[in-house]
Amino acid sequence: MRKDVINSRVHKEDGMAKPKLLSTHKLFEAPRKLLNEHFDVDYWEKPGRPPRAEVLARVADKEALICLLTEKVNDELLDAAPKLRIVSNVAVGFDNIDVAACTRRKIVATNTPGVLDETTADFAWTLLMAVARRLIEGDQLTRSGAWAGWNLDQLCGGDVWGKTLGLVGFGRIGRAVARRAAGFGMRILYNDAIPVAPEVAKQLNAEFVERDKLFAEADFVSVHVPLLPETRHLISAAQLAKMKRTAYLINTSRGPVVDEAALVAALQTGEIAGAALDVYENEPKVHHGLVGRKDVVLAPHIASASVETRTKMAMMAVENCVARFGGKKPPNALNPEVL
Ligand code: DGY
Repeated sequence: MRKDVINSRVHKEDGMAKPKLLSTHKLFEAPRKLLNEHFDVDYWEKPGRPPRAEVLARVADKEALICLLTEKVNDELLDAAPKLRIVSNVAVGFDNIDVAACTRRKIVATNTPGVLDETTADFAWTLLMAVARRLIEGDQLTRSGAWAGWNLDQLCGGDVWGKTLGLVGFGRIGRAVARRAAGFGMRILYNDAIPVAPEVAKQLNAEFVERDKLFAEADFVSVHVPLLPETRHLISAAQLAKMKRTAYLINTSRGPVVDEAALVAALQTGEIAGAALDVYENEPKVHHGLVGRKDVVLAPHIASASVETRTKMAMMAVENCVARFGGKKPPNALNPEVL
């Protein structure tokens, strides 16, 4: 918890009304407590997401909004919220927010970077291991009652240790994934728009390579880029065709970075060995061609979902709001120029 932010006063103790805030989630205990101290909060208390119409109606008189990555913060929402001064996203990715539209209205947009890197990297590895070692198939067989006992060729997957890991995107999360590869004695290739400093690459035993080389040589391609116009369908038919037939694709970034139809085709034709996904092009829909396949592991966008990390994310979102109304710069402002 950031002391400088927490100590800032949002409202005076002279009975001035607290600013009105809409939170599209009930949050966790500690962030909720802090939020209640500083704001007059309208929480969406029910399970699941609030219907869009509900958000548009409730945000009308609010000065602050805490929302999840499932909420499209666009002109429609901003037009419905003329008093809004901050949009605080409980996620590091902010492709759900039209930041330029916020800036035009002098609304600060914030996100939650940093706190979820290690947890997300853990999960990228969970997916990698699960798909390579056929864990889900094994679990299903064990539970089914059909398991007839040990057999030499049963559920043989691909080795992980000693293989080549290709990281597409080498920011905080990509590097956290790389750190974990050391224990598996892997060769690490990475590609990023901006290569890291040589000493960082050396420390992580990671080699910068062009994307084509990465796709051609990696046994595991793990994706860690934000969703931007230039990263949409970054993994398309052409890239998948360059991968080894024994290689796996892991995606914990954003669904639209992978062309899902092309991925299904690559799996069907055996162009790659398998895929493990946490994110999808049209969440919560999952491409029907993926659902029935045994060579894919499908998770429901839970890479950052540890109790500790999700609580920290919510706390950061609250702190950003507290700072905004306490006369301080929100620590994670995406458009600080409006301040
Ligand atoms: C994010 O923060 O952007 C993730 O997708 C959810 O943790």
